[in-house]
Amino acid sequence: MNLSRKLEQYLPQVALEVIWNIGNRASQSGQQLYLVGGIVRDLLLECPNFDLDFVVEGNAVTLAQQIAASSSARTMTYPRFGTAKLKFDAFAIDIATARNETYARPGALPIVTPGTLKDDLSRRDFAINAMAISLVPESYGELVDPYHGLNDLQHRLIRILHPQSFRDDATRILRAIRYEQRLNFNLERETSQLLKENIPLLDTISNDRIRRELNLILLEECPERALGRLCELRVLPELALSPKERGWLAEKFQKARSQHRTGSLAQLYLCLLVYPFTPESLEKFLCRLNMPGRASQMLRKTLNLKASLFLLGGETMKNSEIHHLLKDYAPVVLQANAIASDVEVIHRRLVLFSNELRQIAIYSTGNDLTRLGFPPGPETGEVLKQLLKAKLDGSIKTRAEEEKLAIELKTTEAGTARTQPRRNRR
Ligand code: CTP
Repeated sequence: MNLSRKLEQYLPQVALEVIWNIGNRASQSGQQLYLVGGIVRDLLLECPNFDLDFVVEGNAVTLAQQIAASSSARTMTYPRFGTAKLKFDAFAIDIATARNETYARPGALPIVTPGTLKDDLSRRDFAINAMAISLVPESYGELVDPYHGLNDLQHRLIRILHPQSFRDDATRILRAIRYEQRLNFNLERETSQLLKENIPLLDTISNDRIRRELNLILLEECPERALGRLCELRVLPELALSPKERGWLAEKFQKARSQHRTGSLAQLYLCLLVYPFTPESLEKFLCRLNMPGRASQMLRKTLNLKASLFLLGGETMKNSEIHHLLKDYAPVVLQANAIASDVEVIHRRLVLFSNELRQIAIYSTGNDLTRLGFPPGPETGEVLKQLLKAKLDGSIKTRAEEEKLAIELKTTEAGTARTQPRRNRR
């Protein structure tokens, strides 16, 4: 099968020119060049993908250096791994020397030696990801498919290449579920059976690698699908949502997608994912994923706010009271709680804070108050707080009104201070 028409149809002209250039270079030096991995799968599925991964039967590092020397591309080379990155103005590409990999034991990093394209494809996760397209002029566009990935695409199957695959790399369990749910494919029968049998091997995978795979799931268009499947298959004990919680999650993820404007959608999903957790189950989850400090804080804060939401349910609340309760929470934590909360008044107040109250600020600074005769110190900070409170509650608006109130507060402060017994003044 020749895919040159598909390459032209789906890749931008600049990328095609780079491909032709590298293909010519490789051919001139007697090397073979291929496009490999996810982009081949996606070209065949007619899904846009510009993640250009090349494999060279030869030497990727010297090839990349030659291309960089004759173009505007910048290159980063990793001779120890036989790989290079070429950065063009509009995009970047990865070139790797074809490699052979063996695993000393389950979960270990692979032992890598140079190999042929077929070796390189044989070390990959699934047949649909183990196809290549030749890019040298003599065979430009020819599909190389030694493991029948095209047949699997036609039958909508995720299939490992050999029975040891999940033992070699148990993160493939998570990857299989991600592709199955993304593409709406099925796990091939033996793959499905081996996947289930090998779930305990995920214990051999480092927390960081599990976290990276989970992040990739959160970057999917509808992550709730793969997350639901992970729970159904009991893949991660730390992520054990009941069918009811999974239904809830699906509804909230959909809402998150439709309401999300700025910031990271994956972070918002993560906050919603842990929403049904208890503080104890959250700690186990954070530990299993070796979650970095900031993300852990964000998730703990999400549950803290969830536990305090009832304070926002009062019949009447001043804006300043809402502000006081919510001012220390990050936007993503507030947004997750707003999406998660089904109590109308609480939802409304969370949105009011995020959309309006959070942005309200006073004109005055500490220096302005010093100019008005306030001594620097904690009292000045207190007056600034009083000014913000008054502004939030609508009793002052303009700079002039703010100054007037500051002077009034100064008089009352001074009066209060004078009438207080000396020892209580502090
Ligand atoms: N790969 C693999 N086993 C892994 C990770 C990656 O065999 N544990 C191979 C697959 O052939 C995959 C390629 O390396 O296609 C590139 O990896 P990655 O970028 O993660 O996958 P893509 O298919 O390019 O990207 P996507 O997640 O969009 O499908």
